[in-house]
Amino acid sequence: MQIEVCYSPNSFHLFQNPNAIVVVIDVLRATSAITTAFYNGVSKMIPVATVDEALVYKEQGLMVAAERDGEIVNGFDLGNSPFGYMNTRVKGKTIAITTTNGTQAIEAAKASKQVVIGSFLNMDTLIYHLKKEKSPVIFLCAGWKNKFNLEDTIFAGAIAQALIYKHGFNTECDSAIAAMELYKLAKHDVYGFLANSSHRNRLSKLDLERDINYCLTPNQCPVLPVLEGKFLVKMELPKHDLLVNSKILNT
Ligand code: MLT
Repeated sequence: MQIEVCYSPNSFHLFQNPNAIVVVIDVLRATSAITTAFYNGVSKMIPVATVDEALVYKEQGLMVAAERDGEIVNGFDLGNSPFGYMNTRVKGKTIAITTTNGTQAIEAAKASKQVVIGSFLNMDTLIYHLKKEKSPVIFLCAGWKNKFNLEDTIFAGAIAQALIYKHGFNTECDSAIAAMELYKLAKHDVYGFLANSSHRNRLSKLDLERDINYCLTPNQCPVLPVLEGKFLVKMELPKHDLLVNSKILNT
């Protein structure tokens, strides 16, 4: 049960492992928005890499979310703010989504054995699933335009640490070790640790401080989105698992 951390969708080809579950991470904000969407009753999502692909779904009459550089793309129904999905109008809907980095990472990983969506919002649910599956895990950080970012790496380090120290996983991957070291430095105040980080500053300039705080708050949405073909859907956890999981969440 080896853990690896890939810092950029561009490097994902170096990490191929046909037995691995891939966890796509874009804490600010794509995977947080997707997790929130499913927690609020969205039925399916279709992640696409380009605005042109998203437009095709819009022309077919689907609800479509499109974000570039932190802002909603003109003419689309939704952007990438988790708060946009806390609304009854999304309940039961299928929503296509394209974002600057998050959906690029999903695209890079889509041929993997299993692709799940990770964020602080669903971290204990994610740990519970990975622990149960006992497979190798690759954390794929969306980063920013194929560059490293702090928030995705810190989150990968948090989950890697939990799996290694509590659940019998291990690692021989230097980027996983570095991610865990960063998490150790950041864990008492992730928001403060990110004070000078590029995307926290980018979102602050767009007056999205509320989004940052929400996305960094653990376990608000105990659901696990998983890729099935071209759709993201909510993984059905057996009743027993949900009970155990809610026990985890309440301790
Ligand atoms: C992305 O996918 O690039 C990000 O989530 C950007 C954002 O904050 O909207």
